[in-house]
Amino acid sequence: MTGTKIDGKVIAQSVKDRVKQAVEQLKTQGINPCLATVLVGDNPASATYVRNKHNACQEVGIATKDHKLESSITQEELNKIIDELNSDNQVHGILVQLPLPKHLDEFTTISRISPLKDVDGLTPHNAGLLSMKKAALVACTPSGVMEMFDYHNIDLEGKNIVLINRSNLVGKPLYHLLLQRNATVITCHSKTKNLDQVCREADIVISAVGDRTKFTLTSDMIKEGAVVIDVAITRHNDKLAGDADYDEIISKASFATPVPGGVGPMTVAMLLKNTVTAASLSGQIGH
Ligand code: GUN
Repeated sequence: MTGTKIDGKVIAQSVKDRVKQAVEQLKTQGINPCLATVLVGDNPASATYVRNKHNACQEVGIATKDHKLESSITQEELNKIIDELNSDNQVHGILVQLPLPKHLDEFTTISRISPLKDVDGLTPHNAGLLSMKKAALVACTPSGVMEMFDYHNIDLEGKNIVLINRSNLVGKPLYHLLLQRNATVITCHSKTKNLDQVCREADIVISAVGDRTKFTLTSDMIKEGAVVIDVAITRHNDKLAGDADYDEIISKASFATPVPGGVGPMTVAMLLKNTVTAASLSGQIGH
């Protein structure tokens, strides 16, 4: 069988259309949604991601503030910038692009962001709320994946889902979101035994390894008609690629995401959605 492409660009556009309307609505109430980004150092991939986020904000009418900081910045200086953004009433969302240079501590940095402005959903507060089914701001890539399932009416209840990632950014939030939909979720990682066999038993495989020298998801590793969500983005044979080759995997999957044009655009769209949520939360608490 040849499956259906889950087109991240189309689904992201539908999210952005809704966000644009919500932005217009907020502006009529005197709230001008604004996202502040913080980029430390000169990682070219991170610079591209942040640029894409700014362009997407502009598309839907969200204002932006851009903080580009030298890689030599100290933790104290970075903390001070986050504190200033936390108390700036014109800023509704704060995004610190990861990874940070080695001398800066990610946990210290992310924890410093006000949970009400944490549009990445990565603060301990919001990560904890997610695990208790109470989160207003959820990590963008995981919520983007959920949006893809919903767009195609892919039912998750009782499904065996294999997740190949256990990071705070992807695997852990996805685990909670999938569990909340009554899926049976197996979270795999570099020490998992017989990963091929584990994948073959899954109705849905969500793969986010991002290193082709270590892992490739091939069609012999999935069952006929499985759904494959490829969250990875890496360079392979001089091209952008995920953990799977789309043309190969779609010959056996019922649905699959391409790379590029799959999960990537969803991450950006969900960031816009979270910024609107944070802006409306600020309206409710009066700043
Ligand atoms: N680096 C890679 N993905 C992300 C993301 O979703 N948020 C942040 N802040 N950094 C990232």
